[in-house]
Amino acid sequence: MFNKIAVVGAGNVGATTAQRLAEAELAKTVVLVDVAEGIPQGKALDLAQSGPVYGYDTQMIGTNGYDEVAGAELVVITAGIARKPGMSRDDLLETNAKIIRSVSQEIKRVAPDSIVIVVSNPLDVMCHVALEATGFPKERVIGMAGVLDTSRFRTFIAEAADVSVKDVQAFVLGGHGDSMVPLVRYSSIAGIPIDKFIAQDKLDEIVLRARNGGAEIVKHLKTGSAFYAPSASVLDMVESIVKDKKRILPAAAYLQGEYGVNNLYVGVPCKLGAKGLLQVIELDLTAEEKDALSISVNDVAENVEKLKAFA
Ligand code: NAI
Ligand code: 2OP
Repeated sequence: MFNKIAVVGAGNVGATTAQRLAEAELAKTVVLVDVAEGIPQGKALDLAQSGPVYGYDTQMIGTNGYDEVAGAELVVITAGIARKPGMSRDDLLETNAKIIRSVSQEIKRVAPDSIVIVVSNPLDVMCHVALEATGFPKERVIGMAGVLDTSRFRTFIAEAADVSVKDVQAFVLGGHGDSMVPLVRYSSIAGIPIDKFIAQDKLDEIVLRARNGGAEIVKHLKTGSAFYAPSASVLDMVESIVKDKKRILPAAAYLQGEYGVNNLYVGVPCKLGAKGLLQVIELDLTAEEKDALSISVNDVAENVEKLKAFA
């Protein structure tokens, strides 16, 4: 168990992440930070009062400042604005870059040894902002998106094959955008290739639905974006780090040569443990998969370029 985990942004993703962290007792103290006065305090109190019923002893602190974050071993950044219908993740770029930059500077000041998991969108670009503003090594700044994208892909595979989600293994590579690359060839049901269960045309449909999984939910919700599956996905990563489980999870990592990509955050299979990112696993890709990945990588690179205009 860690002593302290902080979650910056007490909105939908931040608050549900804090709830999941408390319920899993992954830290003695969970600190919820937000600029909105009263919101983190109220939500932290509400979460603390769930403890006796749920059976957790996690201390919950809500605050508008960073004094309480001091010494946190891990910080999850969910601050920023979320997508509304008709908005792409990239529409969030300018506003969220300013927010993530200021949040990262505070993290550097009060928790210089922490591991940072970025959630705010556009994810891959916000990871760049956090890496630059904290000045932390790349092993300690990781982005959450791949677990979520893969979880969506796994849900649709399980539904189509009429099997338990528990037996579905899958992987999604690339940026957290519409050009992400669900890897059918590396997906299986109980170790059996999925084309034994699902016809190719249905698989194509599933790949498309996984890619548009975020937008599908925004369309329903109208006032915001997904948060249950995103917070569950953050928890998977945090658990692997806190318990040093060394799980291989898809996450956004700063690549320096891996997959032929240089100085860019891209979603790839990562080994996560107590020191953060322990290893990037390189998969052998077909020419078609490489092409799809390079489209996704170019999209991320373009957004990083756009970012320079706002610097
Ligand atoms: P939300 O609007 O419910 O919450 C965002 C919170 O950030 C608000 O409470 C707001 O007051 C706070 N905030 C704004 N500026 C701040 C600052 N400077 N310091 C601290 N807090 C600040 O949004 P939601 O649904 O929680 O989403 C949060 C972010 O996560 C969005 O950018 C969204 O696009 C992204 N997201 C990313 C996912 C991924 O897979 N990487 C999945 C789901 C959401
Ligand atoms: C999602 O994929 C909006 O990035 C967010 O749900």
